[in-house]
Amino acid sequence: MAGQKSRVLHRSLDIAPPKAVGGEGVWLIAEDGRRILDGSGGAAVSCLGHQHPRVIEAITRQASKHTYAHTAFFSSEPAEALAENLVGHEPGGLGYAYFVSSGSEAIEASIKLARQYFIERGEPRRAHFVARRQSYHGNTLGALAAGGNAWRREPYAPLLSPAFSHVTPAFAYHEKHDHESEVDFLARLTAELEAEFQRLGPDTVAAFIAEPVVGATAGCVTAPEGYFRAVRDICNRHGALLIFDEVMCGMGRTGTLHAWEQEGTAPDIQAVAKGLGGGYQPIGAMLASSQIIDTIRQGSGSFQHGHTYLAHPMACAAALEVQKIISEEGLLDKVRERGAQLERRLTERFGNHRHVGDVRGRGLFQAIELVADRATRTPFDPALKLNQRIRAAAFEGGLGCYPMGGTVDGRKGDHILLAPPYIATRDDIDMIVDRLGHAVDGALKSIGH
Ligand SMILES: Cc1ncc(COP(=O)(O)O)c(C=O)c1O
Repeated sequence: MAGQKSRVLHRSLDIAPPKAVGGEGVWLIAEDGRRILDGSGGAAVSCLGHQHPRVIEAITRQASKHTYAHTAFFSSEPAEALAENLVGHEPGGLGYAYFVSSGSEAIEASIKLARQYFIERGEPRRAHFVARRQSYHGNTLGALAAGGNAWRREPYAPLLSPAFSHVTPAFAYHEKHDHESEVDFLARLTAELEAEFQRLGPDTVAAFIAEPVVGATAGCVTAPEGYFRAVRDICNRHGALLIFDEVMCGMGRTGTLHAWEQEGTAPDIQAVAKGLGGGYQPIGAMLASSQIIDTIRQGSGSFQHGHTYLAHPMACAAALEVQKIISEEGLLDKVRERGAQLERRLTERFGNHRHVGDVRGRGLFQAIELVADRATRTPFDPALKLNQRIRAAAFEGGLGCYPMGGTVDGRKGDHILLAPPYIATRDDIDMIVDRLGHAVDGALKSIGH
């Protein structure tokens, strides 16, 4: 209640956020009755919007049967069915699913599985992981060490493992030199990755970790054509694994169930989360290749990891229903259609905006990047907190979006990420762009632009 002290340790210690008391499709309803159009599904989570009756029904059904049994003793129907749904057909060779409660946990499991795999193969020297600057892999210490977000890492730097190193991201807007062609840029990136393997000693690298489409840290950044195939070649040549973090960009968000389907290569290990359960339950998963699991089966016989809430039946039941709905209702086609509309509308509204330098993304995963000067791509002074001003103005205007600072290097730069639910209508998409337009112009005006 307004004015009452909240005992919840909120993200901001100054202002407690309003309580959400309801949801209805693409809308979230606040305690004061305000309706917020959920243009980003929170943090690209709510792929089916809110209160989908089929998912609520599935959760209720499971709750009335059984809610928890420890995975050291039992499996459950929902866990078995969800694994069958996700990897029964072995997409890209991924044959096993390990269910956890978040994206960070899925990344932790991925890192540990890679390490254990090499120990069991008799290659214990493989203990290095190469990732990219301007990436985010989660907030637990292992995942944070893997990530390349300077701002998030800074306070915890002394606690982060030196097993992780970072190379230049495939982020053409900021990293490609003006005189460079896309082909030259790609060649430079792959040469740098190869050099990093050589610096570390190629037989000491366990894996390369990357988001196929970079999410929160840089704002929906796709790689140049051929980048991930080239990365795969380097990993193969040196016997290292390829780990894809599809926590944000996966499970349909970019128009295919897995973002890597559009990259012409599959990973050995993949982390998924947000769109897996659509926010109906906390759930993430590590998907692993059958070859990795077979190696461990023939070795120690068990993955040396675990959490109390692995494969939670309620979470698996919710995620299974979410996945069935996406497939039965043909929502990936919708993501592609509505995604093309969103991209078009954003380009119409912001393509010539003097403070929007880039509109980018794939499917229903699109972002705009704000710049002080379009010609030089100079960001605004971070002290202006432009992205936070836009978030506040958007919320005031009835739109939820996902803004972030540090787009360029973890400190400078502002972008706004949009990730509407897959059920969004044509009108919803138009309304998201209109409301964002007002919020951007209002926020810019508040800083004298
Ligand atoms: C690409 C990526 N990886 C990992 C994570 C961590 O997921 P979680 O917040 O569920 O731990 C996120 C969260 O935003 C993410 O976007």
